[in-house]
Amino acid sequence: MSPKIQAPRGTQDVLPEQAAARAVLEERAREVFEAAGYERIETPIFEHTELFSRGVGESTDIVQKEMYTFQDGGGRSLTLRPEGTAAVSRAYTEHGMHKLPLPVKLWYFGPFFRYERAQAGRYRQFWQIGIEALGAEDPAVDAEAILLLVTLLQSVGARGVKVKVSSLGRLESRAVYRDALQTHLRANEDRLSDEVRGRIDLNPLRAFDSDHPGTQEVMRDAPLLRDFLDPEDAEHFAQVLALLDAADVPYEVDPTLVRGLDYYSRTVFEVHSTELGAQSALGGGGRYDGLVEQIGGPPTPGMGWAAGVERILLAGGAPPHAPAPVDLLVGGPVGPEQFRLVADARRAGLRAQLDLAGRSLKGVLKQANRLDARYVAWMDDDGHAQLKDMQTGEQLTAPDTDAVIRDVLRGPGL
Ligand code: HAM
Repeated sequence: MSPKIQAPRGTQDVLPEQAAARAVLEERAREVFEAAGYERIETPIFEHTELFSRGVGESTDIVQKEMYTFQDGGGRSLTLRPEGTAAVSRAYTEHGMHKLPLPVKLWYFGPFFRYERAQAGRYRQFWQIGIEALGAEDPAVDAEAILLLVTLLQSVGARGVKVKVSSLGRLESRAVYRDALQTHLRANEDRLSDEVRGRIDLNPLRAFDSDHPGTQEVMRDAPLLRDFLDPEDAEHFAQVLALLDAADVPYEVDPTLVRGLDYYSRTVFEVHSTELGAQSALGGGGRYDGLVEQIGGPPTPGMGWAAGVERILLAGGAPPHAPAPVDLLVGGPVGPEQFRLVADARRAGLRAQLDLAGRSLKGVLKQANRLDARYVAWMDDDGHAQLKDMQTGEQLTAPDTDAVIRDVLRGPGL
């Protein structure tokens, strides 16, 4: 026997029952976003590697060690998309969307790829639902984006949802803060983990994320970014919070919130679920006012988030989905007449299935019960169409297959 081939580590098959829950989630997302004026966008699964190294940032874990990068036949370096914001920003520029009425509001639902340590809730191929609003700086865009994620999670029944929000300020205030933080880290260098010590220059903020006890102690009295926000940034953040209050969105301000991507400025947020273990972030995002310019577009503010589809489902989001009932099951060995009957029934709008397993009549009736099919039709030995109503038990001989369809359409009863 040949050796069994398994799916790669960190990937998951989406089996029919899970596909149904995902479809519910996607449908809810469509309803929530389109009601708020967000339109669907899909970008390619792979992009030029440079989009992510420039957009997401050279110093991030994503770019340094998590990208699936390969050369194509033409020698170009391509990367399976690890996230959607850089790609949507590229599409915005490439299609001249800045000429549209602003902000341009987009949403997406698709697979993403990161070479991460696979564990419960963390995969190498995972799906994200996300939104991006490009072209407006207004704090209302930020508050509305957060509200939409909370609304979506509520509407699919995700449990234990908690919102954490913070502001990183703009680049200038962040530079002053970075200096202060680096000074603090250098002064305590001997107590830090090797990883954090090695990144003091490149990415000192990540020290807040460390689970190393010594580092955590040092971070307890580290300077906080919120004390370095300039008055405009502080006012922008205050307005975001006031709008969240106005819409009764519960949140916690967490000044140590660190996002793993470099493009953020001003508002950042994450939504966690108390139902999940170590990988508790259902979604996260923020404002990225410099990103479009960073990848060669016009200066454009942006705000958005992405949420993990698998994690939403793990947190109880998306209710069980009953399969659509079958109107008509056509049994008997499949010949031209049975085949035409099913084709015509579907054209008439019925959910019709053929028995493709060559079951006996008894077997077909059993299968009809399993499928919860309302009617069963078959050809009897004399070539007449028989129709049985599985609910009432009535059975009749129909003059032809068109009559079968008419009877089923007229239902219930015969
Ligand atoms: P992110 O925080 O890297 O942000 O990912 C968003 C969400 O995707 C996470 O909260 C998590 O639910 C899910 N996720 C990320 N990595 C994995 C993984 N390996 N396995 C399972 N789920 C995962 C972004 O991607 C930004 N592009 C969000 C954004 C949009 N910011 C502005 N606009």
